[in-house]
Amino acid sequence: MNEYVLEVKNIHKTYKVRVGLKGKEIEVLKGLSFNLKPGVSLGIVGESGSGKSTLVKIIAGLEAPTQGQLFWEGQPLSYPRKPNPKHIQMVFQDPYASLNPKQKIKSILEEPLKLNTSLSASQRLEKIVFWLQAFNLSPEILNRYPHQFSGGQRQRIALARAFLLEPKLVILDEPVSALDVSVQAQILTLLKKIHLEQKRNYIFISHDLAVVRYLCSEMLVMWKGEIVEQGKTKEILANPTHAYTQSLLEASLG
Ligand SMILES: Nc1ncnc2c1ncn2[C@@H]1O[C@H](COP(=O)(O)OP(=O)(O)OP(=O)(O)O)[C@@H](O)[C@H]1O
Ligand SMILES: [Mg+2]
Repeated sequence: MNEYVLEVKNIHKTYKVRVGLKGKEIEVLKGLSFNLKPGVSLGIVGESGSGKSTLVKIIAGLEAPTQGQLFWEGQPLSYPRKPNPKHIQMVFQDPYASLNPKQKIKSILEEPLKLNTSLSASQRLEKIVFWLQAFNLSPEILNRYPHQFSGGQRQRIALARAFLLEPKLVILDEPVSALDVSVQAQILTLLKKIHLEQKRNYIFISHDLAVVRYLCSEMLVMWKGEIVEQGKTKEILANPTHAYTQSLLEASLG
């Protein structure tokens, strides 16, 4: 057994952008390295534009690194890679964009199971009902369409869809930032409960240190495409060394 589920080794990401008539390269990730042990919930914080989403898209296989390597359970991850490998699932910020409005919830939830497993129709339904209930949703919603739900309900449906395939790693890119505070608290409580019961790896991006402290035992702080702090959440929050972490701590924890 490998000590780490995920190893990220010196990854760089450069985008080509047009400036007027000329092309220019911008380096969005400047050599990031970290390791993830089994069962750890890792928080990522950092200023807007520091490269958090780019980093997790590379981990999920939605983008390729320009340089560097990633290893999943000791094996190199290849690029380009089929999006959404079964053991790594990702949930995005916007619950309005992530569910196909033309599909009923039942087919939205059945699709990944049909594509990735050999479960029978009744086994699929059993799994769907289990994960709906884990996110406080009733099986009665299966015949409805996404527009019939609130943002918080939609995000819980998107979460149920991500967990259905029993991924080892769930990447959550600001999953509650678009929701109001009471709905945020409800969803974070469910995510924490599931984490404590099942010890799945989470990578959780947030602007809110209180959320990271609640949900993540380890954390990274990103600043302009680099990791400026990494380690145990408790230790970083007790003794932040980078000015960005210090200002975030003053702003969010008081
Ligand atoms: N496809 C792309 N082409 C060009 N530049 C990009 C592309 N995707 C991201 N960028 C740039 O890369 C930088 C990092 O973006 P990224 O979305 O990773 O930041 P972030 O830390 O997730 O920010 P936020 O907190 O606002 O979500 C930004 O300057 C962004 O404009
Ligand atoms: Mg982002």
